[in-house]
Amino acid sequence: MNDTPSLSGKVAIVTGAAGLLGREHCVALARAGASVVAADLDQEACRRVAEAVGAECGARMLGVAVDITDPASVAELHARTRSSLGEVDVLVNNAAIDDKFAASDAAEQSRFENYALERFRRSLDVNVTGTFVCCQSIGARMAERGTGSIVNVASTYGIVAPDQSLYRRPDGVQAFFKSAAYPTSKAAVLGLTRFLAAYFGPRGVRVNALSPGGVEAGQDEWFQAAYARRVPLGRMATRTDYHGAVVFLASDASAYMTGANLVVDGGFTVW
Ligand SMILES: NC(=O)c1ccc[n+]([C@@H]2O[C@H](COP(=O)([O-])OP(=O)(O)OC[C@H]3O[C@@H](n4cnc5c(N)ncnc54)[C@H](O)[C@@H]3O)[C@@H](O)[C@H]2O)c1
Repeated sequence: MNDTPSLSGKVAIVTGAAGLLGREHCVALARAGASVVAADLDQEACRRVAEAVGAECGARMLGVAVDITDPASVAELHARTRSSLGEVDVLVNNAAIDDKFAASDAAEQSRFENYALERFRRSLDVNVTGTFVCCQSIGARMAERGTGSIVNVASTYGIVAPDQSLYRRPDGVQAFFKSAAYPTSKAAVLGLTRFLAAYFGPRGVRVNALSPGGVEAGQDEWFQAAYARRVPLGRMATRTDYHGAVVFLASDASAYMTGANLVVDGGFTVW
């Protein structure tokens, strides 16, 4: 292994690339030398990310619309990637739903007793089934070729339960509740990761999870302060805090690692 992990000559797909962290995963992989496909629901958003990251990092980029819950759409993403950039070496399953509620009645709608079954089903469909579909389509080809690295983005909430007091304002009013769907789906992602690591390992495909902690992204100050108090390192993550972890898992720097969950959370889950 070289001292600096390199992805030179590798092809990577990042799902959810138009979101907060997806774009950063694209930047990290592109800076490490990979050609990167930015995949998300909206074609124009994907094109913009691909253009901006390509210009910023001097990398070959492609923006491709995909719905990860639709096997035909994922097959099309895979086919376009192969014809434009070549075989896929790295798949970052980053797309996910984390419920958002209208501020006016967020606490009532997100309360477990009221939480809509349809929301639960949709979160599992995207966060778990979507990850399954991408792993099945793209991972199967990696296994045929005998090489590949899959990074499934989970969360601290796949490991520990949400502390609902974090979402309570200083005046004692609950702004919202973190839903059951998110931790349930992220724990399932960890289970799928271990299953696939065991299944694909003999054929040279590594499958690991990355569990980020909360990222500072313009949340209310009271929330940021409460979250920071829960974190041994005393702050929320910045959006670039996962660059190193993504490149590490994608590259040969982690060649002897599979089925692991790389927790990058400032220590949120240690207590
Ligand atoms: N932001 C955080 O604090 C945080 C913390 C822990 C884990 N995570 C995880 O990191 C990942 C990225 O989070 P984020 O904050 O960037 O989220 P985000 O909401 O900003 O981005 C998610 C992206 O996924 C896309 N997406 C949703 N459904 C899709 C579908 N069916 N097909 C294709 N794309 C779809 C959305 O369009 C969106 O652009 C997620 O897996 C999330 O659970 C985030």
